[in-house]
Amino acid sequence: MPTRDTMHKQTLLKRWLLGASLAALTASGASAATATRGDFGTLADGTKVEAVTLSNGAGMTARIMTLGATLQSLVVPDKAGRKEDVVLGYDTAREYLARPNYFGVSVGRYANRIAKGKFTLDGKSYALATNDGPNSLHGGLKGFDKRMWKIDSVTSGPDARVVLSYVSADGEEGFPGEMKVTATYTLTERNELKLEYRATTSKPTVVNLTNHAYFNLSGNDARDVMGNLVTLNADRFTPVDATLIPTGERRAVAGTPFDFRKPIAVGTRIRDARDQQIRYGRGYDHNYIVNGAAGTLRLAAVVEEPVSGRVMEVRVTAPGIQFYTGNFMDGTYFGKGQRAYRQGDAICLEPGTFPDAPNHPDFPSARLDPGKTYVNTMVYAFRTK
Ligand code: BGC
Repeated sequence: MPTRDTMHKQTLLKRWLLGASLAALTASGASAATATRGDFGTLADGTKVEAVTLSNGAGMTARIMTLGATLQSLVVPDKAGRKEDVVLGYDTAREYLARPNYFGVSVGRYANRIAKGKFTLDGKSYALATNDGPNSLHGGLKGFDKRMWKIDSVTSGPDARVVLSYVSADGEEGFPGEMKVTATYTLTERNELKLEYRATTSKPTVVNLTNHAYFNLSGNDARDVMGNLVTLNADRFTPVDATLIPTGERRAVAGTPFDFRKPIAVGTRIRDARDQQIRYGRGYDHNYIVNGAAGTLRLAAVVEEPVSGRVMEVRVTAPGIQFYTGNFMDGTYFGKGQRAYRQGDAICLEPGTFPDAPNHPDFPSARLDPGKTYVNTMVYAFRTK
């Protein structure tokens, strides 16, 4: 029988060994980025939800839950080193289903709108549920955001990573082909959160996967985003009709409230109702055509929150990025800490192909064929100023 004294000594030895190995890791330059798996409550039907927390040695933490492969929280230091959550969302998994608003979720099979929920592929017509006025939005009634994803792997340092996967049945929500998707979240020591969506299909289909994080870089201060300085690396955007379906035009931003080629506060022109596009979107709810070659990672957006000093750079491989200022939030979404979210409380930057691409042959294609792999990569990089 070990005596209390020997047990105490063993505990001290274990602690010392742990400390020494951590010190050795740090000294060797290897990072202390960790990925930890844990429970995240249950859904109303008893389904267990899990979450993986990625932490780096530079003060950032990202929590991803299996419901919807959702970025549930993202803690980022401000210029004074204060670590605060910069994404909107709920405290519990259940609320994501009870009052869905796509907070931080993975959106699929088709992010954004498909006009009248209809498209044709190889001469065959497909009909989807219309869940946004006359149109289909964000994958339909039960899109990827409302599905349980599996955790495929969890890896600690040098980068912390989680890979989640979901298999969407042939015909699910009206889309053809069985689709296998993965979402890989990677947190680096350089304060970058990288996200990569991949998909394969058993039959020709359409796909547009994205993440729908609502960013509020003021953290606990929870100021609205009107004072955020935004830069969008886009000379053109795709104007929409009254139901937010692109008309097909690629309009120059020059001389319009949509020009963010130089940093400008979001609120400067958001009330300029002389522009019909501002009226249709109730502000900004538009797809920007990111300058440069789609398929290569390039700068799409910079958001700077002047008081906290947090700056976020968004780099994407996608051809477009939806810039949405939370215009439909009306104070009836009670988020983390029972905070009511209102119009203009967040910025969404959703990289993807253009809305309604399946009905616009001249838009970048959303088609995916068997044997091919769809990839959409986005990096949210943080610094302070
Ligand atoms: C759309 C908005 C929609 C929001 C829902 C955005 O991607 O562009 O119109 O209200 O998602 O969260």
